[in-house]
Amino acid sequence: MKAITIPRPDDWHLHLRDGGMLQGVVGHSAAHFARAIIMPNLVPPVVTGQQAAAYRERILQALPDGSDFEPLMVLYLTEGTDPDDVEASAKSGLVKALKLYPAGATTNSDSGVRDFDKVIPVLERMAEIGLPLCVHGEVTDSAIDIFDREAVFIETVLDPLRRRVPGLRVVMEHVTTRDGVDYVKSQDADLAATITTHHLIINRNHILAGGIRPHYYCLPVAKRESHRLALRAAATSGDARFFIGTDSAPHPTDLKENACGCAGCYTSINTMSLLAHVFEEENALERLELFASRNGPAFYRLPVNEETMTLVKEDQAVTFPTGFETAAGHVTVFDPGFETFWRPKSD
Ligand code: NCD
Ligand code: ZN
Repeated sequence: MKAITIPRPDDWHLHLRDGGMLQGVVGHSAAHFARAIIMPNLVPPVVTGQQAAAYRERILQALPDGSDFEPLMVLYLTEGTDPDDVEASAKSGLVKALKLYPAGATTNSDSGVRDFDKVIPVLERMAEIGLPLCVHGEVTDSAIDIFDREAVFIETVLDPLRRRVPGLRVVMEHVTTRDGVDYVKSQDADLAATITTHHLIINRNHILAGGIRPHYYCLPVAKRESHRLALRAAATSGDARFFIGTDSAPHPTDLKENACGCAGCYTSINTMSLLAHVFEEENALERLELFASRNGPAFYRLPVNEETMTLVKEDQAVTFPTGFETAAGHVTVFDPGFETFWRPKSD
């Protein structure tokens, strides 16, 4: 038997939704993760400090009894965001980041930014106070091929924006390409990236070859194999600029198995087992704690969790439900397509 003990991990990019879905999913994250950066793309989005405080309260209410899971709140950046509200919400400790969605880039992103000139004053204030900007890094121009949207975003939006607002701290969320990894590595410590569990495991063939598999469809869409390998190398390298953000994004199964299926993979429940599997495959188990437990807090300037998690490699494969019911419908769990033997246990 093999076991490793790491500081309790955090999830630096998570969708918990609201209402019946929140109720149905939050326990999965709370079982393994101490804290999570909570995405604000509700309908309507979480735009103000007041809305973030109310959403945080709803999350705390939905937690299982006795859980000390800490939701780290994020404001959705709009062209109307008030820099003073941002600063006050950050200084009170409530808000840990803002989220930039280019308008129309993904699920519930209609209130996102169209004209970047309008948000420069907010970004300048964030640079001043050191508040990170989480970025959904895809252009939305229909003329750009969906597999190129991340690379084009870096060149035409992100790099010019970072030059315009020096000192702005940015997380490229769910980076999916070698271009993204290389860009992060070429910059200073003001730029970091999250990588999802599923992008370490699937490439675009998993979505499209031998039949269309809606449960592997997410945004940014998985790219070709060489990109997946670049993500694996970055995640397992120990480089402080890369850390886990599951982007676990629950949708009712019938809205994914649909003529126009929603984007999002649900991995909150099996992420830690799958990460241990991936890191073992890459001979990097000793660096799992950097990716899952240390690099994220360092970037967000938060303490590493004092509690620990032990991952035990068992003789029998660990099984997960293929899906589960919530008051907002059935959710299908991400199927990695292989057996895993690693079981996480909170110490
Ligand atoms: C996310 C969602 O469903 O909210 N979907 C996804 O495919 N990742 C939105 C997002 O993070 O892009
Ligand atoms: Zn997301």
